[in-house]
Amino acid sequence: MRMHESDVVEGLISRLQDPGKISIKPHLLSALCRLYHQEAEWKGDSWGTRPDTRGPYYQLDTWGQSERILEALKQELASAGPEQAALLISEMNRNRIQSNEALERIIDLATEDASHVGAAVSQLAAIDDIPAKAVPLLIKAAKNPLASPAVLSQSIAGLARTRHSSALNAMLTAMSTLQNAEGSDKEQAAGRSAFLGSALLVDQHEQLEKLAAEDLKSPAAKWANAGLLALAGRKNIGPEITTHVRKAIDLGWQEADRRVLLMNTAALLRNHYLDARIQASMNDFDPDIADAAKSAARRLRIPAPGEDNTSKIGDLTPEKALEQVASFKGDIALGEAVFLRAACATCHTVSQDQKQKGPYLGNIANTYRRNDLALSILDPNKTIAQGFATNFLHLKDGRELTGFVVNEAGDQVVLRDILAQEHNIEKRDIQERRTLETSIMPEGLMAGFSVKEMASLLDYLENLSSDDE
Ligand code: HEC
Repeated sequence: MRMHESDVVEGLISRLQDPGKISIKPHLLSALCRLYHQEAEWKGDSWGTRPDTRGPYYQLDTWGQSERILEALKQELASAGPEQAALLISEMNRNRIQSNEALERIIDLATEDASHVGAAVSQLAAIDDIPAKAVPLLIKAAKNPLASPAVLSQSIAGLARTRHSSALNAMLTAMSTLQNAEGSDKEQAAGRSAFLGSALLVDQHEQLEKLAAEDLKSPAAKWANAGLLALAGRKNIGPEITTHVRKAIDLGWQEADRRVLLMNTAALLRNHYLDARIQASMNDFDPDIADAAKSAARRLRIPAPGEDNTSKIGDLTPEKALEQVASFKGDIALGEAVFLRAACATCHTVSQDQKQKGPYLGNIANTYRRNDLALSILDPNKTIAQGFATNFLHLKDGRELTGFVVNEAGDQVVLRDILAQEHNIEKRDIQERRTLETSIMPEGLMAGFSVKEMASLLDYLENLSSDDE
C-alpha cells in the first residue's frame, strides 16, 4: 500500500508477460489489485463520515495508474483459463475493483460449470445492478437444497435487487433452507435482513399476500407472512401499499391457524407490528391462540395488560424522567424490544457485522455514563455525535435534502434523512452544502414509553458495551 508509483506498476505489468515469472503470477496480480486503489487524501478537516473498516483502505480513491492497472487485469482475464479467471476475479472482488468484464466472465463461467457458482454469487451479492443474465443463476443457487449457507444468503441478497417475477419464490425457498441449516447464525441474519428489507417485496406484495394465505404448513408460507409483517411496519413504501398489506394481515388474523402462524412468525423475527393484538390475545378462549400469544409475548417482551404501571416518559418533566430512569433497574431483553419498537434500529446498528446506517451504538456506554446516555436520547440536539452532523444539501435541480452522511466516497454522497430513507447523490449535482446545528435524530421518541421501558433500553445499551470488552 506504500508502493503507489508508476515504476512499480510498470515493473509488475511487464513481469506478467514474462514466461520465466509464471510461478509468481498470482502474487503479481494480487499486488496489482492492491495498487488499483489508494487511500484518499486527507483534506485537513474531519472525515465526512466514519471510515470504512472493511479494508484495505479507509476511503477508496483512484490514482494516475488505476486505469492502466485495470487494463492489464482485463487483458489477463481475457486470456486466462477458468480456474485462473475465477481466482483473479475473487481477488478483484476482495479489493473492491468493479469491472463489468469480470462480472460477465464469472457469470459465464458459473453458467457452464457449477463449481464457480459460489464465486459468481458472492460477486453478484456485492453489486447494485444485477445483470439480467445473472438472474437464472441466482434462482438456481437459491433453490438448490444443498447450497452452502453463504451461497444461500448471498443469492437472497442478489435476488432482492432484481425485479424478476420468479425471484420471490426462489427467495422464499432459500429462506426456509437457510433457516434449517445448523450453525449458520451469521448467514441467517444476513439473508433475513436482505429478504425482509428488499424492494422486491414491495414490488410483488400482491403475490406475497397470496402466498402468505395459501398452504400454511409449507415453509414458504412462514416466510411470506414474515415478509408481510416486515412490510406492514416499513416506512416509505407509499400509503396505498401499506394499507393493502395491513388489510391482508387483518384478514388473515380472522383465521385461527393463520393467527397462530402470524404470532409465531412475529416472535421469531422480533417484529412488533402485532404487539397490541398479541397482548389482547393472551386471554383468548381458544387455548391454541392463548398459548401462542403468551409464548410470543414472552419473546417480544410484551407485558400482560396492566403489568407495567410506571409513568409514561411524556408525562414527566425531562428532569424527573432522567431521575427516574437513572435509578430504575430494567430488563435487558425488554430494552432490546424497545430499541426495535422505538425505531432506533432504522438509524443505528448495534453489531459490527451489520451494514453501517448511522452512529454505531454497540459500544456507546463506553463513551457515555447512564445519565448522559439518557440525555442524548431525550434531547438529541444537546450534543451532536462526531461525523454525524446534519447536512443540508441544495441540489441543482432545486431539491433540498436534510440528513446525515452515511457514506462519502469518490463522486458520491449517501445521505440518510429523518425518515431513515437513503439518498445517493452525485457530488456534481450539489449546488450548496452546509451543516446545521440540530440533530437528525427526532425528539420525543420516548414519549409513549414507560419509565420501566426506557430504563430497560438503557440497560440494553449498557449491556452491549460490556459484551464488547
Ligand atoms: C432518524 C434517525 C434516527 C433515529 C430514529 C434514532 N437516532 Fe439516535 N442518532 C441519530 C443521529 C443522526 C445521531 C448523531 C447526531 C446526534 O448526536 O444527535 C444520533 C445519535 C444518537 C446517540 C448519541 C451517539 C453518539 O455517538 O454520541 C444515541 C445514544 C442515540 N442516537 C440513541 C438512539 C436511540 C436509543 C434511538 C431510539 C429511541 C434513536 N437513537 C433513534 C439518528 C437517529
